[in-house]
Amino acid sequence: MKAIIHFFSGTGNTARAVQIIAARLEAAGFEVARRTIAGRAEPPAEIPDLTVVAFPIWAWAAPHFVRAYARRLPRAACARAAVFATCGGFGAQGVGEVERILRRRGYRVACSGEAVYPDNWLLAVDPPTGADLKDALAEGDQAVQLFANNCFSDEPARFRCAWGHMLWSWPMAMLFRVFGRRVLGKFFIADARCTSCGQCAAACPVQAIRMEGTPKLPRWGANCAGCYRCINLCPAQAIQISVPRMVVHLGLNLALTVGWFLAIGWIRGRLPPMAGAAQWTLALLAATAVYAALTIFQLTAVDGALRGLAARAPLRGWFRWSYTKTFRRYRAPGFHPERTDVLSR
Ligand SMILES: Cc1cc2nc3c(=O)[nH]c(=O)nc-3n(C[C@H](O)[C@H](O)[C@H](O)COP(=O)(O)O)c2cc1C
Repeated sequence: MKAIIHFFSGTGNTARAVQIIAARLEAAGFEVARRTIAGRAEPPAEIPDLTVVAFPIWAWAAPHFVRAYARRLPRAACARAAVFATCGGFGAQGVGEVERILRRRGYRVACSGEAVYPDNWLLAVDPPTGADLKDALAEGDQAVQLFANNCFSDEPARFRCAWGHMLWSWPMAMLFRVFGRRVLGKFFIADARCTSCGQCAAACPVQAIRMEGTPKLPRWGANCAGCYRCINLCPAQAIQISVPRMVVHLGLNLALTVGWFLAIGWIRGRLPPMAGAAQWTLALLAATAVYAALTIFQLTAVDGALRGLAARAPLRGWFRWSYTKTFRRYRAPGFHPERTDVLSR
């Protein structure tokens, strides 16, 4: 019997879970292959006896490139599949959305689950250390073991997200995928400790980081996936959340969102009478198009201006003002981004 585990891991939690799942499947007689999902990686054409897709939860959802990868999996006629996510507390509809994609590809999702591991979202969380870290990892490992046992059991064991949680988490996930992750990537800045080593750019799963200027410093593009691998894995802990950049970008986003709501009513009032909901639909589409155009302007022109200001000596220190200087960084024990399939001891 053969199993393929397709997975992505930003800071090692999912890689740790995959290691446990693979060991359990091998003990049950499976030959296990692991495939890393990153950027536009193509899945293999082969359909094994068991297909597992594993990923971290970001904003109550699966990473956008994991969803795209799942949509490219070969079509199957009822082949067995399992979906697994690691999260920092609650994954909401993240597992379910990948289950639905696999079902549309013809897979029979027999098993799904999630495990709570240490949260790597440094924007709001200072990761645990010492005994707290050990306990959190042990708790996560336990949930993974349970899932791994269910992978080959005949009883279907699926993770369920209540409808109430679907209602709020699905729109939040959409907003993060389309706009949020791109804006979040614009909060990052390299401080004076940056050695221009370029490891952040090399480890970025979607090649969103370019090293630019003299000395070379990382610059985050608008395609940031939001994995937080760069800030967590920087060997000099030089990557920070810049508070001034965050305030400007969040302020603009808030203004755009309020403007979007107001614009829908304003545009609708200026449209000729139409049947049914056509007037509202047109107004919604027009307001959204303007919102998207202004967001692109924010992520390119406004962000470029902020970068220019941050490069000037009198403002450089101010732009590097950040609370994350006092935060710890997170990587699962033994995790190396260049060898995501094996955790060293
Ligand atoms: C941008 C971002 C958003 C996140 N959103 C959630 C979330 O909505 N719910 C949750 O429980 N954990 C959330 N987390 C925490 C991660 O899902 C968790 O730490 C995960 O185990 C990381 O896996 P990895 O080490 O394989 O990347 C988020 C992390 C990041 C970086």
